[in-house]
Amino acid sequence: MTAPILEMKNISKFYGNILALIDITTYVNAGEVTCVLGDNGAGKSTFIKILAGAHQQSEGQLFVEGEEVMFDSPRDALERGIATVYQDLAVVPLMSVWRNFFLGSEPTKKFGPIRWLDKEKASRIAKEEMAKMGIDIRDTEQPVGTLSGGERQSVAIARAAYFGAKVLILDEPTSALGVRQSGVVLRYIIEAKNRGLGVIFITHNPNHAWPVGDRFLILNRGRSMGDFTKDEITRDELIMMMAGGAELEQLTKELESASAKDEKLAQVAEEFAEELEELEDRAEHPD
Ligand SMILES: Nc1ncnc2c1ncn2[C@@H]1O[C@H](COP(=O)(O)OP(=O)(O)OP(=O)(O)O)[C@@H](O)[C@H]1O
Ligand SMILES: [Mg+2]
Repeated sequence: MTAPILEMKNISKFYGNILALIDITTYVNAGEVTCVLGDNGAGKSTFIKILAGAHQQSEGQLFVEGEEVMFDSPRDALERGIATVYQDLAVVPLMSVWRNFFLGSEPTKKFGPIRWLDKEKASRIAKEEMAKMGIDIRDTEQPVGTLSGGERQSVAIARAAYFGAKVLILDEPTSALGVRQSGVVLRYIIEAKNRGLGVIFITHNPNHAWPVGDRFLILNRGRSMGDFTKDEITRDELIMMMAGGAELEQLTKELESASAKDEKLAQVAEEFAEELEELEDRAEHPD
């Protein structure tokens, strides 16, 4: 059996005395989508910053294709084929699509000692690569800022794939997008997976993770609640675990006692309790 493309062993991260990540052991396979789920502050961004070389782990080991690595910078990670698409930093809005696609790595033409940018080639490659991801850019001269949020993400994803990324990390790519645009990004995630990349998809939305994910790693306050393949867990169990079932129950109780004097709050508490009950029920008896 070949080694997973990426492996974490007992990784912890402390910021001073804040435990952001505690003893995480997991792996990422090529040609699979690994979803990392968790509520605010669960440690999702810390998790990817370590993989992306932006932060170093305090404890534990990191392996790329079976070989132990220690990343000092994002460049180190990129050299090992780990590309990260951050939600905001993905593109330069005022620059054209093709410029954004290459960002400093444009092909050049040479005549004697003189080199200049091969614009036609750059434009053609950008268009072709985007087409492979199922996106049709009519004019690669148009500024990226004029594309929709989902299309912008796709430029960054296509770029990473073209420049030889083996692992593609996406930090909450759908969190600021509407339903339709989220659908667009989810489709690119599948495309990247089908092209053999190991995709790490960070989200707090189990409804986005479920349709595209092969494996699910659930983080809660820095700890792993386990990782599961798709046939080991149901969608509702995923939702329950993410929300922290026990914490939801506690919240329901608190809401109920606080609502004794407040009619409106009482109604919210009641709806909340009903929803929780339904969720628990479905988790125990999936269809
Ligand atoms: N640079 C830092 N210095 C100190 N504490 C930090 C730092 N970065 C993160 N933390 C803390 O580590 C914990 C995990 O944060 P992290 O950003 O990884 O969570 P997250 O799952 O990405 O949350 P969100 O969904 O809100 O983005 C939080 O308690 C956070 O306050
Ligand atoms: Mg985060």
